[in-house]
Amino acid sequence: MKFFVDTAEVDQIAELNELGMVDGVTTNPSLIMKSGRDILEVTKEIAAMVDGPVSAEVVAIEADAMIEEGRKLATIADNIAVKVPLTWDGLKACKVLSGEGNMVNVTLCFSANQALLAAKAGATFISPFIGRLDDINLDGMELIADIRTIYDNFGFDTQILAASIRNVNHACDAARIGADVMTAPPDVIHKMAAHPLTDKGLDAFLSDWEKTGQKIL
Ligand code: E4P
Repeated sequence: MKFFVDTAEVDQIAELNELGMVDGVTTNPSLIMKSGRDILEVTKEIAAMVDGPVSAEVVAIEADAMIEEGRKLATIADNIAVKVPLTWDGLKACKVLSGEGNMVNVTLCFSANQALLAAKAGATFISPFIGRLDDINLDGMELIADIRTIYDNFGFDTQILAASIRNVNHACDAARIGADVMTAPPDVIHKMAAHPLTDKGLDAFLSDWEKTGQKIL
């Protein structure tokens, strides 16, 4: 599974990128707001740093305006994926922008039918929002599984980008079910390395090592 980082914080992306953990980045208007940076400037910086797709989201709500914004965002760098919302206008914009050779990430997906429409409109990525479904007591993982089945049934090559990943269980479940990509905040990716038995085992090894009086260097 590919890892995208869901942030517009350049330092945090850089740290994970050095470890080879970054296959792409997703941003959205809220993340741009949190970064306090100019969208064009920060997206350009991220796109130059990362090898894979960097999603930048349109904010218009009508198709023609979304297309214009998408075309502008796509000029930032070759690896920009234009992010459009899963509305009827967003699907129209997806069709046009993908037809022009742009990567398109269709976001705010909450149903398998929406995902089916996005694939038919030529989406490169579909972003089902796991955490936000969990927030209202619906099963985000069931949605990922349904989309996986539907895409495999008909051979759609739209990649399932599990989004709104809030914890390590979301990450593991999305991988197990077969999401092509997950996008997670940096802290969730860090937490994936943590296990209490790892800490306990390391403490025991270090305490026994101390007793040997030896040194490796
Ligand atoms: C994905 O592209 C979105 O930016 C993100 O995953 C939304 O996550 P949230 O629901 O935690 O805000």
